[in-house]
Amino acid sequence: MIILGIETSCDETSISVLKDGKEILSNYISSQIDIHKEYGGVVPEIASRHHIKNIATIMEVSLKEAGITLDDVDYIAVTYAPGLIGALLVGISFAKGIAYGRGIPIIPVHHIKGHIYANFLEHKVELPAIALVVSGGHTNIIHIDINHKFTNLGGTLDDAVGESYDKVSRVMGLGYPGGPVIDQLSYEGDPNNIYMPEPKVGGYEFSFSGVKTSVINYVNKMNMKKEKYNPADIAASFQNRVVDILCKKTIKAALEKKVKNIVIAGGVAANSLLRKELLCRAKLEDIEVFYPSIKLCTDNAGMIAAAGYYKLVYGDSDKIFADLKLNGIANMEI
Ligand code: KG4
Ligand code: ZN
Repeated sequence: MIILGIETSCDETSISVLKDGKEILSNYISSQIDIHKEYGGVVPEIASRHHIKNIATIMEVSLKEAGITLDDVDYIAVTYAPGLIGALLVGISFAKGIAYGRGIPIIPVHHIKGHIYANFLEHKVELPAIALVVSGGHTNIIHIDINHKFTNLGGTLDDAVGESYDKVSRVMGLGYPGGPVIDQLSYEGDPNNIYMPEPKVGGYEFSFSGVKTSVINYVNKMNMKKEKYNPADIAASFQNRVVDILCKKTIKAALEKKVKNIVIAGGVAANSLLRKELLCRAKLEDIEVFYPSIKLCTDNAGMIAAAGYYKLVYGDSDKIFADLKLNGIANMEI
């Protein structure tokens, strides 16, 4: 069974070919990061235009690499929510064009489920599991039952983790995206040098605005006094606090829900300290942790095709197939 995956929810145009739900034959990703860097973040209108310009060529490359043609495609899995609406619509319209022309069914995919299913491409994940979703737009703890039913246990009350990384990087003039830069830099700094408050939010809720504001206030104060500061100390102190918060809540969820497996998903799942620390702390509780390889952590169509496959096999709360009326949805709970 061949699924063609399409992902255009943000600033990556990606098309993949997935065989039998497990084997990625191709997963071509065209990143626009260098274009948006100039503006310090993703500019939605520019993102849409680049998706339009590139998507057809990207499909050609992806099909060629997989050694197939459109005649071999059984299903199209496309991200329809959440994301930048204009960007989503490019992928959806493209999918509809192929579906209409070739009579191929469309499976609409929730972007965050895609991030979670990236784990299933590389690991044999036992269910039930707790998923920690950490990206530029999301921070959620999700319970997945044995029938692949997703329940959101909690999320952020303000900024998403990736967003905080990006803002902290921006205030220090370290560019976009901030996550990889801060992650790298933190190894040269002292994590106890700058005080980062622990947010006072209960349950499975998160708040990162206090930690982020501490960094912004500190940098502004130093700049005003014309005093030098060490960006590595800030990076290390910030990262330590953020990872500690994420690990504590995720393990708490696994223990309270009596779940023995944790998966991490989303762009921030590439964070080196989060991967190490969560693995270490979970091991003490006899809990297994899975995370995707770095290339499957950030937005890619391979994970969308995988989520499409599991939707097909296990069903979903919404309809498995979409008709040609399928629309994009900018904000949508899992
Ligand atoms: O999942 P993703 O590719 O796009 C969204 O759906 O949002 O995530 C992008 C986010 C950005 O905020 C980026 O700074 C962050 O993931 N990120 C990281 C790392 N690599 C990417 N954050 C922390 N550490 C990293 N190594
Ligand atoms: Zn994403």
